[in-house]
Amino acid sequence: MSDLASKTILFVGLGLIGGSLARALRERNPAQKLLATDTDQSALDAAMQQGAIDRVGSLQQLAPAADICVLATPPLALIDLIPEVASLCPAHTVFTDVGSVKSHVLPAIDAQTETFAGNFVLGHPIAGSEQSGFQAASKDLFKGRKTILCPLERNSTAAIAQINEFWRQVGADVIGMTPERHDQVLAATSHLPHLLAFAIVDVLLHQEQSDDIFRYAAGGFADFSRVASSDSTMWSDIFVANAQATETVLDDYIDALRSLKESINSRDRAALREVFNRAKQTRDRFIHNHYQGNSLQTVSDNLITFKTAPGGTISGSLRVPGDKSISHRSVIFGALADGITKVSGFLEGEDALKTVAAFREMGVTIVGPDKGEMTIYGVGKEGLQAPRIPLDMGNSGTAMRLMAGLLAAQAFDSELFGDESLNSRPMGRIADPLLTMGAAIETDSDGTPPLKIEGKKLRGTQYDMPVASAQVKSCLLLAGLFAEGTTSVTEPAICRDHTERMLKGFGYTIEGGYPGSTVSVQGGQRLAAASIDVPADISSAAFFLVAASIAPDSDLLLEHVGINPTRIGVINILRDMGAAISFENQQEVGGEPVADIRVKSSRLHGIEIPKDQVPLAIDEFPVLFVAAACAEGETVLRGAEELRVKESDRIDAMATGLKTLGVEIETFPDGIRIVGGKFGGGKIDSLGDHRIAMAFAVAGLRAEDAIEIVNAQNVATSFPGFASLANAVGFKLTELAV
Ligand code: S3P
Repeated sequence: MSDLASKTILFVGLGLIGGSLARALRERNPAQKLLATDTDQSALDAAMQQGAIDRVGSLQQLAPAADICVLATPPLALIDLIPEVASLCPAHTVFTDVGSVKSHVLPAIDAQTETFAGNFVLGHPIAGSEQSGFQAASKDLFKGRKTILCPLERNSTAAIAQINEFWRQVGADVIGMTPERHDQVLAATSHLPHLLAFAIVDVLLHQEQSDDIFRYAAGGFADFSRVASSDSTMWSDIFVANAQATETVLDDYIDALRSLKESINSRDRAALREVFNRAKQTRDRFIHNHYQGNSLQTVSDNLITFKTAPGGTISGSLRVPGDKSISHRSVIFGALADGITKVSGFLEGEDALKTVAAFREMGVTIVGPDKGEMTIYGVGKEGLQAPRIPLDMGNSGTAMRLMAGLLAAQAFDSELFGDESLNSRPMGRIADPLLTMGAAIETDSDGTPPLKIEGKKLRGTQYDMPVASAQVKSCLLLAGLFAEGTTSVTEPAICRDHTERMLKGFGYTIEGGYPGSTVSVQGGQRLAAASIDVPADISSAAFFLVAASIAPDSDLLLEHVGINPTRIGVINILRDMGAAISFENQQEVGGEPVADIRVKSSRLHGIEIPKDQVPLAIDEFPVLFVAAACAEGETVLRGAEELRVKESDRIDAMATGLKTLGVEIETFPDGIRIVGGKFGGGKIDSLGDHRIAMAFAVAGLRAEDAIEIVNAQNVATSFPGFASLANAVGFKLTELAV
């Protein structure tokens, strides 16, 4: 739990940011010991008078008492200050800064002792105002705003956790970036706009009769130039400190201005409109997302329609995004581990990003994901902080069910909710066994979310799962890590075993597991940070396996796909149907088998799908139904009632859609019968289910007419960039924002 309350905090610089931090901390904890030094004596006097600070003085006087030292000065002043605070503060002092530029500080930090470098955690609140000085300071400045931490590998994880907690206590949402990325992002989003504002005011000032210009300048000018009222010392420092990144983006801007000037010069109305339209749409979307208060911008807030054109051949090679199941678990285990976990190939889809956001809310510092790379600064098994808000699990059943097991065992309470689809999915399957472990977990009266969880000390259990569900198994194993004694789970049929494999990878001893049907964990061990290479998701690859099988003259290579034996039902079933699928370059990466998969067109025939393959292909049935619709003869699936409680009722959703296309279908409570043959086009509602939308996009390859798939926005939950990747290998898919 937080021990911030007992710390003495020293502010070096009591301007807008330092002053606002002091006010925010004072409001949270009137007894917090706050010290400040500043070159502006009037700021210190005002702060003392208002009781915002307990003690003011010189750095020499105050530094020895500092547990946390906040350097809230302009970026260049920071460089000179670092050796001073390094020599004056005790070895245990933890440091953070608030500067808008990061990379330039690194040499100054590295020139100090290793202990100092270990304790200096770079931070930057994305909050501020064109006003400056202590008189403008506000206790609410950071509430709901982001603070970017740029942790370094040489930082101690304890120092990172402390500084994370510091920013959370003032109301900030803490995110992580590398210093280089931070400086690039800020150059584009903050530094360039400030430069333009300063420049435009200055340009107008130098026009003839500038008085007149300013007299008549209306809203547009005021809006655009607001930040030109910012502090000139700070901003000249920023451009000197971040010269390289700002120059790069400034060059792009100058090019854009030149091109606009040319369009004006040639009276090219269409070119101007194109740029303005694009900019308007982008800004409207940004404002919409921003003011919904989402710390995670959710692409699926905007409706998307897919349109397919008939025909196509699938060829080339591609790597689909990272495995969703492994991505979720990499965040969970990385957060709970001691040390720094590095992940590559992480799925940057909305589902996995919800898990990232949830751990951030619980005080875990996570850098990225950026092009699949992510670094998680583990807080250890007891290090999670109570979330300040209910946690949004979006569309993700995996996130909600796994998190529920973990949260049931914490020393704090929490609440989980989801979107419309998730809020109607069954949670009794996890709540019931968790209750037998001593958990206090409440669902809605019909067993659906939201989940209200009271953190409890749990005891082990022996649970025979009535359904083969890896989510239920994983939920209980996660709870079992914290429970007293042994937690054993027995599955009625083999289901995915990523939790078991990854626990081992994080140094946690488990007993049993695949190919056996019972797995046990003993509570109380610790997890050690690991390196994770997330393979491409076989569930996403499945759309292309079917696409290349059904489209004529196809030959496709899917790279680095996870072929865990508990996941390859789709390949087993397609091979049974006559598909030409082969593995190349098989290897084991971080405990998971991986291969490049080659798939060529083939004549598929209908089969009776073996029941033992159902849990092994549970997410792939929507697209397997499309394969069945293209196969000769009929395909029958039984024993798959689980499909009715996925992101949609997938039996109904697929049956309705396939019937619309003219496919002969019969449904059962636990399955479907599909008669293969020719089919046409039509309008399909994917019901917001990502896999239904992508399955019908695949059907478009063999449909005799165009298919329009509405409600396809949730494709972003598991497969961001699906349409462009699909088109790159031969789909004829248009994605429309509606
Ligand atoms: C998953 C398990 C499966 C699967 C889901 C991911 C997991 O759900 O459908 O997409 O990561 O554990 P069930 O456990 O409900 O079968």
